[in-house]
Amino acid sequence: MDSDRVRQMLYIVFGHLTGAVTSAMIHLGDRLGLYRAMHAAGRPLSPTELAACTGLHERWVREWLYGQAAARLVDYVGDDQFVLAAEAAWILADEASPLFAAGAFHSLPEQFAVVRQLPDCFRKGLGLPYDVLGPEGAAGIERFLGPWFRHFLVPVVLPSLEGVVNKLQKGAKVADLGCGAGVALLEMARAFPCSEFHGYEISMHALDRAQRNLAASGLRNVRLHHANAESLPADHSFDLITAFDCIHDMTRPRAVLRAAYCALKADGTLFIVDINTRPTFEENLHHNPLAAMMYGISVLACLSSSLSEPDGEGLGTLGLTEPLLREMAAEAGFTQLLRHDFQNPVNAYYELRP
Ligand SMILES: C[S@@+](CC[C@H](N)C(=O)[O-])C[C@H]1O[C@@H](n2cnc3c(N)ncnc32)[C@H](O)[C@@H]1O
Repeated sequence: MDSDRVRQMLYIVFGHLTGAVTSAMIHLGDRLGLYRAMHAAGRPLSPTELAACTGLHERWVREWLYGQAAARLVDYVGDDQFVLAAEAAWILADEASPLFAAGAFHSLPEQFAVVRQLPDCFRKGLGLPYDVLGPEGAAGIERFLGPWFRHFLVPVVLPSLEGVVNKLQKGAKVADLGCGAGVALLEMARAFPCSEFHGYEISMHALDRAQRNLAASGLRNVRLHHANAESLPADHSFDLITAFDCIHDMTRPRAVLRAAYCALKADGTLFIVDINTRPTFEENLHHNPLAAMMYGISVLACLSSSLSEPDGEGLGTLGLTEPLLREMAAEAGFTQLLRHDFQNPVNAYYELRP
């Protein structure tokens, strides 16, 4: 036994436990409005002051602040005063920021509750659909992925797809597959009022949120469909079909790509945003600093979803590699695939044409 390696291993193991419990504390800071209150104060606060402005008990807030300072999420400036730096507020407190990330912690309790059901999945092979995470699961995905859509989809990303904005301005027919709570759909529908937008989703909780977001938006050019009950029409009528962070979650991605091909016009575009994964496990292991988190999320959600029907494809979070997508796209009938780079280390962007 190499005692240095044992010590190193203990450090690694408890480092992960530190990450897990700190994540739970980030969830609480977001849910209880602690980060927002620190951001709004704009100056260092004592635990007593933070407790007073959030209506919480001082002793609990003090312990939370001690942990946050130890985790270097908030700064302790001495004299019982704690401050949330502007950079931290951008990520943890300001939901309007493009880098807001506290949404990623929204449904942690639901994600971890699923762990109780996973031993059965490992034994039987069958996974769990997204709806097992309940309404908070859908809310978490909305808050996690929403900032990107709001800041980048319409102004930065769509203009880079050949001819797409021109068609959307004139009046095009668009489908968003796996539309979740409809954030991308509504952003596009608002920007292009002459076009019609169709969201397809299998999660009842996500559809419920999408329905409410649509009602609140007042938009009249959007329709939502339960993907199992109403499939994409195979009538070559769509100008643009999008799929954001969902192909790797699907039990039948090949059939979905084929359905997209049959729904698109001959000069239509399929735009897929998925995870920026490398072609092999070895490359992900050595070059993807988020690989451990992503393989974990895969077991908790993505792989589970993609195996939630018998004989599911089982891609999982890092499973839709570019070579595999090229193979699946060709099998579905697509003849062109262009990969875009928007300087985002997490996502990959693929423009496909029939
Ligand atoms: C990670 S979420 C992304 C949601 C949304 N596109 C977004 O970016 O916010 C993946 C979504 O794909 C949905 N999904 C999985 N398989 C599907 C299928 N066959 N058809 C439609 N939606 C599906 C899930 O229910 C889930 O809401």
